Amino acid sequence: MGISLSCGQAKWARSSLGSRALNSGRLVPVPRGIFITLEGLDGSGKTTQIRRLTAWLARRNIEPVVLRQPGGSATGDRIREILLDSRSTGLTPMTEMALMFADRAQAIAEIIQPALDAGKIVLCDRFTDSTEAYQGGGRELGSEIVLDLHRLICGNVQPDLTLLLLPSLEASLIRARRRNDRDQSATGKDEGRFEAEQDAFYYRVWQKYREIAAREPERVIRIEGDLSIDEVHEQIVESVAERLMTATRGV
Ligand code: TMP
Repeated sequence: MGISLSCGQAKWARSSLGSRALNSGRLVPVPRGIFITLEGLDGSGKTTQIRRLTAWLARRNIEPVVLRQPGGSATGDRIREILLDSRSTGLTPMTEMALMFADRAQAIAEIIQPALDAGKIVLCDRFTDSTEAYQGGGRELGSEIVLDLHRLICGNVQPDLTLLLLPSLEASLIRARRRNDRDQSATGKDEGRFEAEQDAFYYRVWQKYREIAAREPERVIRIEGDLSIDEVHEQIVESVAERLMTATRGV
Protein backbone atom coordinates (compact mmCIF):
# COMPACT_ATOMS: atom_id res chain seq x y z
CA MET A 1 0.00 0.00 0.00
CA GLY A 2 1.72 3.16 -1.17
CA ILE A 3 0.05 5.70 1.08
CA SER A 4 1.92 7.51 3.76
CA LEU A 5 0.41 10.14 5.99
CA SER A 6 2.52 12.42 8.09
CA CYS A 7 1.35 13.39 11.56
CA GLY A 8 0.41 16.83 10.30
CA GLN A 9 -1.64 15.44 7.46
CA ALA A 10 -3.41 13.08 9.81
CA LYS A 11 -4.28 15.93 12.14
CA TRP A 12 -5.69 17.90 9.26
CA ALA A 13 -7.60 14.86 8.12
CA ARG A 14 -9.11 14.46 11.52
CA SER A 15 -10.08 18.09 11.90
CA SER A 16 -11.84 18.03 8.54
CA LEU A 17 -14.08 15.19 9.59
CA GLY A 18 -16.70 15.83 12.24
CA SER A 19 -19.55 18.20 12.76
CA ARG A 20 -19.28 21.86 11.93
CA ALA A 21 -20.00 24.64 14.40
CA LEU A 22 -21.20 28.12 13.87
CA ASN A 23 -18.56 30.61 14.93
CA SER A 24 -18.87 34.33 14.25
CA GLY A 25 -21.29 33.56 11.45
CA ARG A 26 -18.81 31.20 9.74
CA LEU A 27 -18.84 27.43 9.63
CA VAL A 28 -15.60 26.13 11.09
CA PRO A 29 -14.50 22.51 11.41
CA VAL A 30 -14.74 20.99 14.86
CA PRO A 31 -11.88 18.55 15.40
CA ARG A 32 -13.03 14.97 15.45
CA GLY A 33 -11.06 11.78 15.06
CA ILE A 34 -11.80 8.64 13.13
CA PHE A 35 -13.60 5.77 14.81
CA ILE A 36 -12.75 2.34 13.38
CA THR A 37 -14.20 -0.90 14.73
CA LEU A 38 -13.29 -4.52 14.05
CA GLU A 39 -16.01 -7.11 14.20
CA GLY A 40 -16.40 -10.83 13.68
CA LEU A 41 -17.00 -14.13 15.40
CA ASP A 42 -14.76 -15.36 18.18
CA GLY A 43 -11.70 -16.80 16.46
CA SER A 44 -12.03 -14.61 13.36
CA GLY A 45 -8.57 -13.14 13.90
CA LYS A 46 -9.50 -9.62 15.07
CA THR A 47 -6.85 -9.39 17.76
CA THR A 48 -4.03 -10.26 15.36
CA GLN A 49 -5.34 -7.83 12.78
CA ILE A 50 -5.67 -4.97 15.29
CA ARG A 51 -2.04 -5.54 16.26
CA ARG A 52 -0.97 -5.49 12.60
CA LEU A 53 -3.05 -2.38 11.83
CA THR A 54 -1.67 -0.55 14.88
CA ALA A 55 1.88 -1.29 13.67
CA TRP A 56 0.97 -0.16 10.13
CA LEU A 57 -0.37 3.15 11.50
CA ALA A 58 2.67 3.57 13.75
CA ARG A 59 4.92 3.34 10.67
CA ARG A 60 2.97 6.33 9.36
CA ASN A 61 3.44 8.24 12.61
CA ILE A 62 -0.15 7.72 13.67
CA GLU A 63 -0.73 6.46 17.18
CA PRO A 64 -4.27 5.17 17.58
CA VAL A 65 -6.17 4.66 20.82
CA VAL A 66 -6.85 0.91 20.98
CA LEU A 67 -9.47 -0.77 23.13
CA ARG A 68 -11.70 -3.82 23.22
CA GLN A 69 -15.25 -4.48 24.30
CA PRO A 70 -16.36 -5.60 26.69
CA GLY A 71 -13.57 -3.95 28.68
CA GLY A 72 -11.29 -1.01 28.11
CA SER A 73 -12.16 1.10 31.13
CA ALA A 74 -11.43 -0.06 34.68
CA THR A 75 -15.14 -0.59 35.31
CA GLY A 76 -15.49 -2.23 31.92
CA ASP A 77 -12.77 -4.76 32.73
CA ARG A 78 -14.74 -5.80 35.81
CA ILE A 79 -17.92 -6.06 33.75
CA ARG A 80 -15.97 -8.18 31.23
CA GLU A 81 -15.08 -10.66 33.93
CA ILE A 82 -18.73 -11.15 34.83
CA LEU A 83 -19.75 -11.47 31.21
CA LEU A 84 -17.13 -13.91 29.97
CA ASP A 85 -16.52 -16.13 32.98
CA SER A 86 -18.30 -19.45 32.49
CA ARG A 87 -19.14 -19.46 36.19
CA SER A 88 -21.61 -16.62 35.45
CA THR A 89 -24.38 -19.10 34.95
CA GLY A 90 -27.99 -18.10 34.45
CA LEU A 91 -27.41 -14.60 33.05
CA THR A 92 -30.56 -13.76 31.12
CA PRO A 93 -30.15 -12.40 27.58
CA MET A 94 -31.48 -9.02 28.79
CA THR A 95 -29.00 -8.91 31.67
CA GLU A 96 -26.21 -9.79 29.28
CA MET A 97 -27.26 -7.03 26.87
CA ALA A 98 -27.62 -4.48 29.68
CA LEU A 99 -24.12 -5.28 30.92
CA MET A 100 -22.71 -4.92 27.38
CA PHE A 101 -24.28 -1.47 27.16
CA ALA A 102 -23.15 -0.48 30.66
CA ASP A 103 -19.61 -1.35 29.63
CA ARG A 104 -19.96 0.56 26.35
CA ALA A 105 -21.41 3.71 27.95
CA GLN A 106 -18.43 3.84 30.29
CA ALA A 107 -15.91 3.25 27.48
CA ILE A 108 -17.50 6.00 25.36
CA ALA A 109 -17.43 8.49 28.23
CA GLU A 110 -13.96 7.65 29.50
CA ILE A 111 -12.05 6.72 26.37
CA ILE A 112 -13.75 6.85 22.98
CA GLN A 113 -15.38 10.29 22.95
CA PRO A 114 -12.43 12.12 24.56
CA ALA A 115 -10.06 10.50 22.05
CA LEU A 116 -12.28 11.43 19.09
CA ASP A 117 -12.65 14.96 20.42
CA ALA A 118 -8.87 15.17 20.61
CA GLY A 119 -8.72 14.22 16.92
CA LYS A 120 -7.32 10.72 17.45
CA ILE A 121 -7.93 7.52 15.58
CA VAL A 122 -9.76 5.03 17.79
CA LEU A 123 -9.50 1.29 17.03
CA CYS A 124 -12.09 -0.67 18.91
CA ASP A 125 -12.22 -4.48 19.00
CA ARG A 126 -16.04 -4.92 18.89
CA PHE A 127 -18.78 -2.34 19.40
CA THR A 128 -22.58 -2.28 19.07
CA ASP A 129 -22.56 -4.51 15.98
CA SER A 130 -21.40 -7.25 18.36
CA THR A 131 -24.41 -6.65 20.59
CA GLU A 132 -26.70 -6.74 17.58
CA ALA A 133 -25.06 -9.94 16.30
CA TYR A 134 -24.67 -11.80 19.64
CA GLN A 135 -27.61 -10.60 21.73
CA GLY A 136 -29.87 -9.51 18.85
CA GLY A 137 -29.04 -12.52 16.65
CA GLY A 138 -27.47 -15.20 18.85
CA ARG A 139 -29.77 -14.68 21.83
CA GLU A 140 -32.67 -13.81 19.53
CA LEU A 141 -33.53 -10.49 21.15
CA GLY A 142 -33.77 -8.89 17.69
CA SER A 143 -32.08 -5.85 16.21
CA GLU A 144 -34.61 -3.22 17.15
CA ILE A 145 -34.08 -3.27 20.90
CA VAL A 146 -30.30 -3.17 20.44
CA LEU A 147 -30.45 -0.20 18.10
CA ASP A 148 -32.93 1.60 20.38
CA LEU A 149 -30.67 1.08 23.39
CA HIS A 150 -27.69 2.22 21.41
CA ARG A 151 -29.43 5.51 20.62
CA LEU A 152 -30.52 5.93 24.23
CA ILE A 153 -27.40 4.84 26.09
CA CYS A 154 -24.58 5.54 23.65
CA GLY A 155 -25.86 8.80 22.19
CA ASN A 156 -25.82 6.97 18.85
CA VAL A 157 -22.02 7.20 18.52
CA GLN A 158 -21.29 5.45 15.22
CA PRO A 159 -18.06 4.06 13.79
CA ASP A 160 -16.78 5.76 10.64
CA LEU A 161 -15.56 2.42 9.38
CA THR A 162 -16.20 -1.16 10.46
CA LEU A 163 -14.04 -4.03 9.29
CA LEU A 164 -16.03 -7.24 9.52
CA LEU A 165 -13.93 -10.40 9.43
CA LEU A 166 -15.99 -13.30 8.21
CA PRO A 167 -13.97 -16.48 7.78
CA SER A 168 -16.02 -19.64 7.56
CA LEU A 169 -18.06 -20.48 10.63
CA GLU A 170 -16.24 -23.81 11.06
CA ALA A 171 -12.76 -22.26 11.00
CA SER A 172 -13.76 -19.54 13.50
CA LEU A 173 -15.24 -21.98 15.98
CA ILE A 174 -12.27 -24.33 15.93
CA ARG A 175 -9.89 -21.41 16.45
CA ALA A 176 -11.96 -19.81 19.22
CA ARG A 177 -12.32 -23.00 21.26
CA ARG A 178 -8.65 -23.87 20.88
CA ARG A 179 -7.65 -20.33 21.90
CA ASN A 180 -9.84 -20.38 24.97
CA ASP A 181 -8.32 -23.66 26.21
CA ARG A 182 -4.83 -22.26 25.63
CA ASP A 183 -5.56 -18.91 27.34
CA GLN A 184 -7.18 -20.59 30.30
CA SER A 185 -4.20 -22.80 30.99
CA ALA A 186 -1.79 -19.87 30.54
CA THR A 187 -3.60 -17.25 32.65
CA GLY A 188 -5.97 -19.30 34.78
CA LYS A 189 -8.68 -16.90 33.55
CA ASP A 190 -11.85 -18.44 32.27
CA GLU A 191 -13.27 -16.38 29.39
CA GLY A 192 -15.10 -19.28 27.79
CA ARG A 193 -18.76 -18.53 28.47
CA PHE A 194 -19.53 -17.57 24.87
CA GLU A 195 -17.24 -20.18 23.29
CA ALA A 196 -19.26 -22.86 25.10
CA GLU A 197 -22.36 -21.89 23.10
CA GLN A 198 -23.77 -24.31 20.53
CA ASP A 199 -23.04 -24.01 16.83
CA ALA A 200 -26.64 -22.90 16.18
CA PHE A 201 -26.03 -19.82 18.34
CA TYR A 202 -22.95 -18.94 16.31
CA TYR A 203 -24.78 -19.51 13.06
CA ARG A 204 -27.36 -16.89 14.12
CA VAL A 205 -24.53 -14.48 15.08
CA TRP A 206 -22.90 -15.03 11.70
CA GLN A 207 -26.17 -14.44 9.86
CA LYS A 208 -26.85 -11.25 11.80
CA TYR A 209 -23.40 -9.90 10.96
CA ARG A 210 -24.13 -10.49 7.28
CA GLU A 211 -27.48 -8.72 7.68
CA ILE A 212 -25.80 -5.68 9.28
CA ALA A 213 -23.23 -5.54 6.47
CA ALA A 214 -25.96 -5.70 3.82
CA ARG A 215 -27.89 -2.92 5.59
CA GLU A 216 -24.89 -0.58 5.95
CA PRO A 217 -22.52 -1.30 3.05
CA GLU A 218 -20.88 2.14 3.23
CA ARG A 219 -19.71 1.70 6.80
CA VAL A 220 -19.20 -2.05 7.02
CA ILE A 221 -16.46 -3.61 4.88
CA ARG A 222 -16.79 -7.38 4.68
CA ILE A 223 -13.58 -9.38 4.58
CA GLU A 224 -14.83 -12.81 3.78
CA GLY A 225 -13.43 -16.30 3.36
CA ASP A 226 -10.57 -18.28 4.83
CA LEU A 227 -7.80 -15.87 3.87
CA SER A 228 -4.26 -15.77 5.24
CA ILE A 229 -3.34 -13.24 7.93
CA ASP A 230 -1.41 -11.25 5.31
CA GLU A 231 -4.31 -11.23 2.87
CA VAL A 232 -6.72 -9.97 5.52
CA HIS A 233 -4.21 -7.33 6.61
CA GLU A 234 -3.87 -6.11 3.01
CA GLN A 235 -7.62 -5.68 2.68
CA ILE A 236 -7.83 -3.90 6.02
CA VAL A 237 -5.11 -1.38 5.24
CA GLU A 238 -6.61 -0.76 1.82
CA SER A 239 -9.92 0.26 3.43
CA VAL A 240 -8.27 2.25 6.21
CA ALA A 241 -5.97 4.06 3.77
CA GLU A 242 -8.96 4.95 1.62
CA ARG A 243 -10.79 6.39 4.64
CA LEU A 244 -7.74 8.39 5.67
CA MET A 245 -7.33 9.73 2.15
CA THR A 246 -11.01 10.67 1.98
CA ALA A 247 -10.64 12.46 5.28
CA THR A 248 -7.54 14.28 4.07
CA ARG A 249 -9.43 15.50 1.04
CA GLY A 250 -12.18 16.65 3.42
CA VAL A 251 -14.85 14.74 1.47
P1 TMP B 1 -13.46 -11.24 22.77
O1 TMP B 1 -13.06 -9.99 23.45
O2 TMP B 1 -12.48 -12.32 22.93
O3 TMP B 1 -13.87 -11.02 21.35
O4 TMP B 1 -14.74 -11.81 23.57
C1 TMP B 1 -15.85 -11.06 23.81
C2 TMP B 1 -17.05 -11.97 23.80
O5 TMP B 1 -18.19 -11.22 24.15
C3 TMP B 1 -17.34 -12.57 22.43
O6 TMP B 1 -17.76 -13.91 22.57
C4 TMP B 1 -18.49 -11.76 21.91
C5 TMP B 1 -19.19 -11.33 23.17
N1 TMP B 1 -19.88 -10.03 23.04
C6 TMP B 1 -21.26 -10.00 23.02
O7 TMP B 1 -21.91 -11.05 23.13
N2 TMP B 1 -21.89 -8.79 22.90
C7 TMP B 1 -21.21 -7.61 22.81
O8 TMP B 1 -21.82 -6.54 22.71
C8 TMP B 1 -19.77 -7.66 22.82
C9 TMP B 1 -18.99 -6.39 22.76
C10 TMP B 1 -19.16 -8.88 22.96
